[in-house]
Amino acid sequence: MNNFTNVPELIFKLGGTGSVSKLLKTNPSTISNWKKNNKIPKSYMNKLDILLKKKNLLTYTEYESNTRITSLKKKSKFSILVIISGGVSCYKVLELLRLYHNNNFDIDVVLTESAQKFITPLVVTSLINKKCYTELFSSEEEENMNHINLARNKDLILVAPCTANFVAKITHGIADDLASNIILASDSKILIAPSMNPYMWENKATQDNLKILRQRDIDLINPNSGLMACGEVGKGRLPDINEIFSFTRNYLLKKKEKRHTGFESKLKILITAGPTQEKIDPIRYVSNNSSGKQGYALAEEFLKLGAHVTLISGPTNINKPNVNKFIEVVSAEEMLSQVENNIDCDIFISSAAVCDWKLIPYTLKNKKLPKNDKLKKNKDIFFKLETNPDIIKFVSQNKKRPTLVIGFAAETKNLIPNATKKLEEKQLDMIIANLIEKENAIFGKEYNKIFIIDKQCKIQKSEKLTKHEIANLIISKTLKLHEEKYAKNYN
Ligand code: C5P
Repeated sequence: MNNFTNVPELIFKLGGTGSVSKLLKTNPSTISNWKKNNKIPKSYMNKLDILLKKKNLLTYTEYESNTRITSLKKKSKFSILVIISGGVSCYKVLELLRLYHNNNFDIDVVLTESAQKFITPLVVTSLINKKCYTELFSSEEEENMNHINLARNKDLILVAPCTANFVAKITHGIADDLASNIILASDSKILIAPSMNPYMWENKATQDNLKILRQRDIDLINPNSGLMACGEVGKGRLPDINEIFSFTRNYLLKKKEKRHTGFESKLKILITAGPTQEKIDPIRYVSNNSSGKQGYALAEEFLKLGAHVTLISGPTNINKPNVNKFIEVVSAEEMLSQVENNIDCDIFISSAAVCDWKLIPYTLKNKKLPKNDKLKKNKDIFFKLETNPDIIKFVSQNKKRPTLVIGFAAETKNLIPNATKKLEEKQLDMIIANLIEKENAIFGKEYNKIFIIDKQCKIQKSEKLTKHEIANLIISKTLKLHEEKYAKNYN
């Protein structure tokens, strides 16, 4: 490592704090501050250069040109500022920092005062090899405008975990520490991942604040439900770190695309769910047992991550999720036409149990019966099968094909061969297969057990999990796949 990126090491090589302070005719406490902040004021560089030359070490000027060359070669793809506010889940964000660092993100980190009760600046520095910022005004800093400098030229500012207090501060423009000043002074996109006690989350004050933030175009990664550190159960857990990483990376990749194309975009997800109903006459229909629960769970979990979600649903008896766009349809044909209207998306997930056929009533003399009349019992009728359009195939073969097209396969036997055949025939990126058998009743139930098969025919098997847990599993895989495919297209 270069001397100037590690000031304590540099001081050590020059003979230690005492020697350097004597040579430079400064106070030992000044040198200690340099070491603490890992920074040397520019005014001392010439004097230091002389000392460095004497010891045959790389001088400041040489170091400067050296880093310029390496930074041209290894220019980081994304610049992200992570603000960590003081929730119990702070420690989880350390893993996120490691992921950003390992993936060559240009990352800066700010800790609020309460975050420092859970994690220390030293832990952060050792993970990202960079100073961790905590102070708004610091006498040791040559330039004490951290809040302005850190707020600028970022591709993204992520607040994770974002406490109820910090949500309130952002909402009301309070600027009483470094983190809140940065938010106020920022011209960058802000994404927050709130995490707090379930009662604090549900509190009207918090919910009203979040509503205001959404209106201001601050994006949210909604918390998960589950057992909290305080022992209470409810909504407020920080989502899985890998999901936050994939989500932010996808977001930044999209931003990079925006630079290429000039279009603003958020990750757009199109999901179909539930059954379709195919009319026999004005009163009767054929359909299937799909409840729509798995598709709705996917929509809700994607929404939590801040994605733009369009849900096209067949008739169901469950509560409508509060997605960006909810479209109700009845038949496969209606579903196809709405999918076509909304095909401009990044990821299409077809979890709907689309009826493969519709039944057309005929007389025994092969005459089509009128569509709008109720069929009479005393009439001799038979039904001809008319094949419905294959919606997912239409999407995967479309000129406007989304980056990912993901299907479902419910089978009663030969699960893996049948699902793999569908994956290939329908030209999908991934298929979610489940076996329909007595022991694994899925339709309408709260639980599911799946196999995820990708294009390379790699198979991942899940335990029996709730449909929301299954949704998160699918989302993790999906985001990873999207990131790989997207990065390939735009790197
Ligand atoms: O019906 P099948 O088992 O072939 O369905 C597998 C996948 O194809 C599912 O994702 C389903 O939503 C989709 N599908 C479709 N249009 C159809 C039939 C199925 O999009 N007409």
